[in-house]
Amino acid sequence: MKIAFFDTKPYDMPGFDHYAAGTDLEIKYFETKLNEDTVSLAAGFDGVCVFVNDTVNETVVNKLYEMGVKVIALRCAGFNNVDTRACFGKIHVFRVPAYSPYAVAEHAMALLLTVNRKTHKAYNRTREFNFSLSGLSGFDLHGKTVGIIGTGKIGQIFADICRGFGMKILAYDKFPNPNTGLDYVDLPELFTKSDIISLHCPLTDETHHLINEESIAMMKQGVVLLNTSRGGLVDTEALIQGIKSGKVRGACLDVYEEEGDLFYEDYSSNVVQDDTLVRLIAMPNVIVTSHQAFLTEEALNNIAETTVDNLVKFFNDVPNPDREVCYHCSRKNDCQKERHKKCF
Ligand code: NAI
Repeated sequence: MKIAFFDTKPYDMPGFDHYAAGTDLEIKYFETKLNEDTVSLAAGFDGVCVFVNDTVNETVVNKLYEMGVKVIALRCAGFNNVDTRACFGKIHVFRVPAYSPYAVAEHAMALLLTVNRKTHKAYNRTREFNFSLSGLSGFDLHGKTVGIIGTGKIGQIFADICRGFGMKILAYDKFPNPNTGLDYVDLPELFTKSDIISLHCPLTDETHHLINEESIAMMKQGVVLLNTSRGGLVDTEALIQGIKSGKVRGACLDVYEEEGDLFYEDYSSNVVQDDTLVRLIAMPNVIVTSHQAFLTEEALNNIAETTVDNLVKFFNDVPNPDREVCYHCSRKNDCQKERHKKCF
């Protein structure tokens, strides 16, 4: 079975080669992302393997289907970049629901500690033998209230980490989980009472621009915002205004709405044309990382193992309902998998 692997980076290949060895999978690695311009590269392949910034819209899906591609294996958890409605009945879609929720939650805390205690600035200062402390003061996390939006795997681990710091936790989830022991509140209460707000919900039509002018207006003066989930959750222009006015004291962004053409590439010798991103990066109280929260050895290993397993199971007709997704999956009580063990 031939698999076209898009948006390949050097750190992807060792794990995939290791787990695919001894299976029927033959992987061809393409550096380019999958999109309308590159989809023809998938001709002659049985499946494609894609990541967060590949564009698998309706046009791409239909082209893949016409070319005989039967499966899309996402090597990530989120699947907002795949038009699952267009795939339905044509191409099966699998993902890696959890590869290391710890990696993402730990990165969120690393960003919070950095923006708060300004270790990024301190590091640069001491390298130039500038031992001044002016402008480096932060605040104790102990005793502060963190609002966690989305209390799935990552949100719960982030809550545990915050508890370890002695923080109070408020939680919001569309489907609250009574087993977490978390104190669930509605969104306005979370916005008004939190010193720090961290996003751990998926990007859907409902959560698009969840952080906007109106929600920022409700927040406490000096709130810190963390987004390690998906860029589209935040209206970036509204965030910039919030930072400029001083309402938002700090922002930690591992994801950015328009990251698709920029993140994972080296533009250090170019003039970046995205003025919004440049503005954010120029702000001293904003930390941007390039969608790297997942990037630990454990996560890369789990991603490769699970993705290869998804493909092997698919081609051997082994049901894999926990990792198959379709547009019904996001609507509770409307799941075909209960009956058929497959999305279609
Ligand atoms: P999960 O599926 O375990 O948890 C998501 C939670 O969000 C669930 O509890 C769900 O009920 C809740 N939710 C769904 N719709 C909601 C809404 N409208 N409002 C509030 N909550 C809602 O997912 P997991 O593994 O915790 O991942 C969370 C997100 O993290 C993913 O959707 C993905 O976008 C992002 N992610 C980012 C990575 C990175 O490298 N930056 C890596 C992996 C995931």
